[in-house]
Amino acid sequence: MFAHVQPAPPDPIIGLTEAYKADPNPNKINLAVGVYKDAEGKTPTLAAVRAAEQWLTDHEPNKVYLGIDGDAGYGQATRDLLFGPGHELARDTAAGGRSATFQAPGGTGALRVAADTLAALSPNSTVWLSDPTWPNHPAIFKAAGLAVKTYPYLDPATNTLADEAMAAALADASPGDVVLLHGCCHNPTGIDPSTEQWGAIAALLNDRGAVPLIDFAYQGFATGLEDDAHGLRLLAEACGELIVCNSYSKNFGLYRERVGALTLVAGDNDAAKAVQSQAKAVVRRNYSNPPAHGALVVSHILSDAELTAQWHADLALMRERVARMRKLFRDTLDERGVTLGHGDNAFIQQQNGMFTMSGLTREQVDRLRAEHAVYIVGSGRVNVAGMTEQNIPVLCDAIAAVVG
Ligand code: LMR
Repeated sequence: MFAHVQPAPPDPIIGLTEAYKADPNPNKINLAVGVYKDAEGKTPTLAAVRAAEQWLTDHEPNKVYLGIDGDAGYGQATRDLLFGPGHELARDTAAGGRSATFQAPGGTGALRVAADTLAALSPNSTVWLSDPTWPNHPAIFKAAGLAVKTYPYLDPATNTLADEAMAAALADASPGDVVLLHGCCHNPTGIDPSTEQWGAIAALLNDRGAVPLIDFAYQGFATGLEDDAHGLRLLAEACGELIVCNSYSKNFGLYRERVGALTLVAGDNDAAKAVQSQAKAVVRRNYSNPPAHGALVVSHILSDAELTAQWHADLALMRERVARMRKLFRDTLDERGVTLGHGDNAFIQQQNGMFTMSGLTREQVDRLRAEHAVYIVGSGRVNVAGMTEQNIPVLCDAIAAVVG
């Protein structure tokens, strides 16, 4: 069976971490995978997480299975973060609402359950993805057997949202198609729609009868937990049905614990219950029921006012540090006389979250890695959250050398 198998290409993002680890250069810099680092270049475990883990060690009564859709408190805490406590959509089906949340193994697990559920319930739906998007998006939806199309997102000439081209493409969406949008901190561009643009997107999707799927992996990394949910809430207002895949990898720093959720919103309670039962069957044949640890950490923090306040403060520190690194990266490039954008480097500071599209070509990316041990994604995506005061000068020298 395995004698004639050809090797698969390495993953465009995670594969680079493997190559980075194997690189003996002591000055190597990893700006590939979307992981936050502090000023010392370390990825911290948040104090609130440590406290919640200690609490679980002392109080978790047993290790028996969770239900197929996970911990109910976690589901409620998730909907409160997404929609706001007291919002109609924060009520689940058991409380008469039209939302159903599934605790999932990371945002990726949530996306795969969403994809398999769509493939089971609506196999002829096309899934529309932004161009560019996270490379795992097309892989996940295609693996589930769904057709995938793209809509323009980035205007490379201005480094802004290509809103007109996007609207023109999405005007071709059919009723029942699914349009994937990044809730905030678009990966890889860092460009988010303005309030007006969100409103126009929501109206367009409602008009087309298309269902928004919001991938929300960076809540709290743009402006704040509430503000970052703005687009999602506008979509929820405009469209009767909604799919949200969210992740706590980045905002709780729980990467390896695989903590995420899928929230399905239907038109009414009966429809939501039916969809919930179908998604339960999908989960059961995928991984049966979700891993508990990381999700219980999250729900414990969110049920404790002091730990929640500590988490908010730590999240603000992470967000502010990334913003400072954006400024320093821009200023240092300016000092070196290197312009990455068309015109100036201002776009680096205007974008949100961990990523920016540097505009570096594939050849320049390869030279950065081969000649300077600087690892960025082949598309030119750079993880600003991996930059520090120490590595930015080295990085900018390297970029100056390959573009010059
Ligand atoms: C990224 O885009 O770097 C992150 O979302 C990590 C991943 O799984 O690719």
